Amino acid sequence: MTIKTAVIPAAGLGTRFLPVTKSVPKELLPILDKPMLQYVVEEAAEAGIERVIVVISEGKESIASYFQPQPALEQRLSDSGAADLADKVKQASELAQVSFVIQDQPLGLGHAVLTAEEAVGGEPFVVILPDDIIAHTPGVVAQMLEVHQKRGSSVVAVEPMPWEVIHNYGVVDATALEDRVYQVHRLVEKPVREQAPSNLTIVGRYILPPEIFSCLRRTPPGARGEIQLTDGLGILLEDHEILAYEFLGTRYDGGTPLGLLRASLEFALAREDTREAARALLKSLQ
Ligand code: UTP
Repeated sequence: MTIKTAVIPAAGLGTRFLPVTKSVPKELLPILDKPMLQYVVEEAAEAGIERVIVVISEGKESIASYFQPQPALEQRLSDSGAADLADKVKQASELAQVSFVIQDQPLGLGHAVLTAEEAVGGEPFVVILPDDIIAHTPGVVAQMLEVHQKRGSSVVAVEPMPWEVIHNYGVVDATALEDRVYQVHRLVEKPVREQAPSNLTIVGRYILPPEIFSCLRRTPPGARGEIQLTDGLGILLEDHEILAYEFLGTRYDGGTPLGLLRASLEFALAREDTREAARALLKSLQ
């Protein structure tokens, strides 16, 4: 069955971006001229996803406004001869059918996904974290859907990371099945280096069956009262196969100011319309 639905959790507090996240949602912070959230909706749309459910919280309504058409602004830009800008304004609202659900408290990523249960409606779906920006064509969601279509299992995206930083990540205990595809035996959240079963860290892209919702309901909250998606996946693993997929692409950590800065610089160097100016800028800083 082809997957048509994506859930994008965007209801977190974004404390690593304070003070800006007092009033601007982290997910709307830009890489150059586009919010991180739009990059991931584009990645979903490119993979054939038609329905995007964004999980937001009270106070993050600007995320919903961003996806509303703005006919007055479009008309004004077209009338003044700026058709290219009018197209840019239109883009976000035309990518997919975007709807919103409210997570009433920031009780963790697992809880955010659970909030989308009714909207998802009993089908397999994709989860995409908007602060994990991954540059590659085809995008990571498209790559993972190919693995899912071939094997019919759940899939989590993984990236090998240096052993020194493993304690910051969720890690899989897995054996290789074929190029880039692993069978997951166990998931371990933030292991100490000596106990880490591998250096394959879980990254913000998941293909999940609807059974994940009952698993998340059975997932006990962790230390900070948060329900972790990794813990829910551990329960899912009891009677479902989960594959890990080592994606092709470069990942940027848009969850921190310096990660976002790095993404902005590298995207500016990669984009034709900004490349020269970005090179000159970097040169002037050396
Ligand atoms: P993070 O773990 O980066 O948390 O969430 P955060 O709250 O956004 O940021 P920090 O750690 O305080 O700086 C990863 C994704 O999951 C969403 C976030 O919005 C982000 O897109 N999330 C997290 C929720 O939707 N709800 C939650 O309760 C927690």
